[in-house]
Amino acid sequence: MQDLVGKTAFVTGAASGIGLGIATALAQAGVKVMLCDIEAAALAEAVAALKATNADVEGVRADVSLKAELQAAADATIARYGKVHILVNNAGVGGGGGYGQWTDASWDWTIGVNLMSVIWGIEIFGPLIEAHGEGGQIVSTASMAGLIAAVAPAYNVTKYGVVALSEGLRPALAARGIGVSVLCPGFIRTRIMESSRNVPDRLANALENMTMEAGDSEFAQVAAAAITHGIDPLYVGELVREGIENDWPYIFTDLAFEGAVDARFAAIKAGMDLIRGREPRH
Ligand SMILES: NC(=O)c1ccc[n+]([C@@H]2O[C@H](COP(=O)([O-])OP(=O)(O)OC[C@H]3O[C@@H](n4cnc5c(N)ncnc54)[C@H](O)[C@@H]3O)[C@@H](O)[C@H]2O)c1
Repeated sequence: MQDLVGKTAFVTGAASGIGLGIATALAQAGVKVMLCDIEAAALAEAVAALKATNADVEGVRADVSLKAELQAAADATIARYGKVHILVNNAGVGGGGGYGQWTDASWDWTIGVNLMSVIWGIEIFGPLIEAHGEGGQIVSTASMAGLIAAVAPAYNVTKYGVVALSEGLRPALAARGIGVSVLCPGFIRTRIMESSRNVPDRLANALENMTMEAGDSEFAQVAAAAITHGIDPLYVGELVREGIENDWPYIFTDLAFEGAVDARFAAIKAGMDLIRGREPRH
């Protein structure tokens, strides 16, 4: 999508961090942006700050792990802007709970926010993008943890899921005029390590000590330090804008984990080497 001016985007998790960086970078390029987030106060603040720059933006509150709320947010976007061209599935939480600690609630929360919302986002917004025939782009925020299983199990699983969904849908959606990109950030300076602020009431008791910051303490300390000194979220937003303009399949923020990805591929190849030369029995 080379010409972004006047197009409309819907961005989830847009009140903070990477989502706000993406919303800002798109607004600066002349895109109308519907910011969506679960946190009403932070959302109102973000929308007001962008409006003060003369950006054409609006906010809609939704818990994206609830399909009906995501659908209502899509309806509000069409009611406000008429069309939508760009979907950014970015909302996410650092759901933790390592082996021996996890609970159904910790999986439920993490899968709901990080993965089901992406599946539903594509299901709901895909037809809306197709409807106007002007083409569009779907960007979903995974993580380097979608390529190397380096964080808590539920987080890794959801991020691998977002990568798989994006890679798998790219050819089918290209035929329908929609580009598909997956964003795999490294350490970005955001509030991800304070994800527990967004645990919904319905899961609150069951999720005590289940967020990334509370659950896996050694990892939490390393990650918290790296994120405190992490990459500027607006820089990530600018990369995403470039990725949308040029239909990048993968949007990376830095090369810090390139060696770890190489090591994973090497381990996979080593697994293949174990059976190389054998004739499978049919
Ligand atoms: N910060 C990093 O280093 C990093 C690295 C890789 C991937 N990511 C991913 O980036 C995305 C954005 O996270 P961030 O780092 O900017 O963190 P953040 O906490 O600053 O922002 C996340 C936003 O999502 C919103 N949100 C949370 N639950 C929601 C829900 N149920 N419905 C709607 N909105 C909800 C939050 O209110 C917040 O505004 C996430 O998917 C995260 O997994 C972050």
